[in-house]
Amino acid sequence: MIIPDIIIAVDGCSSTGKSTFAKMVASAFGFLYLDSGAMYRGVTLFAMEGGMIAEDGAVDTLRLLDALDGLDLHFVNEDGATKLYLGERCIEKEIRTLEVSSHVSPVSAIGQVRAFVDSRLHAFSQGGRVIMDGRDIGTTVFPAAELKIFMTASDEVRAQRRFDELAAKGEKHTFEEVLANLRERDYIDSHREVSPLRQAEDAFVLDNTEMTMHEELVWVQGLIQGRFGILC
Ligand code: DC
Repeated sequence: MIIPDIIIAVDGCSSTGKSTFAKMVASAFGFLYLDSGAMYRGVTLFAMEGGMIAEDGAVDTLRLLDALDGLDLHFVNEDGATKLYLGERCIEKEIRTLEVSSHVSPVSAIGQVRAFVDSRLHAFSQGGRVIMDGRDIGTTVFPAAELKIFMTASDEVRAQRRFDELAAKGEKHTFEEVLANLRERDYIDSHREVSPLRQAEDAFVLDNTEMTMHEELVWVQGLIQGRFGILC
């Protein structure tokens, strides 16, 4: 395995703005951005489309694990943005629906699914400078990451952001539905047996409940310049 020259791990609960933050850092400092949650969403979409998730949400684990070997999920770099593909098909849009969100946590709690995703993440982050966001990047995927950031924000602010995002895409859900989905995912993600969401001991905490993007950038600039001597 070739380890990236520099890896920045960004972890935290759902809808804390990890991907927006990580994309901003990637573009300001010339890092490759990889979204590990997209991979879990991709596996979930694949399972949903293959009829491996029942109406009541039960996952047909045996069938899913059987299919994992041949599952072609990969990132493609398009104009500086990393997009997830299932075979020939770009699935960036489909993986962001509330339906996928509501099934992704049980799927991502399966140990073999995590091993599958971890191996893909390592393969896509060989060499160079990488910023990756998720739940366990600084604790499990890259425990020796050079910089670890743990993002947090109040439940209500997070739900409002997610609600606005879904509404902008034309998905109509109530605020309460979005808030409930978010809390349920947080609970499953932080209580699962394999690689639960938790803050790495050496992570810097970024609570952005009342922060603008610009303030987040200023905050991280100080860290990156101090640690790596890189200016944006
Ligand atoms: O970041 P996101 O909301 O797109 O992630 C979707 C789900 O994937 C999240 O509910 C938990 C799971 N996930 C995970 O278990 N580990 C990661 N490193 C990233 C995401």
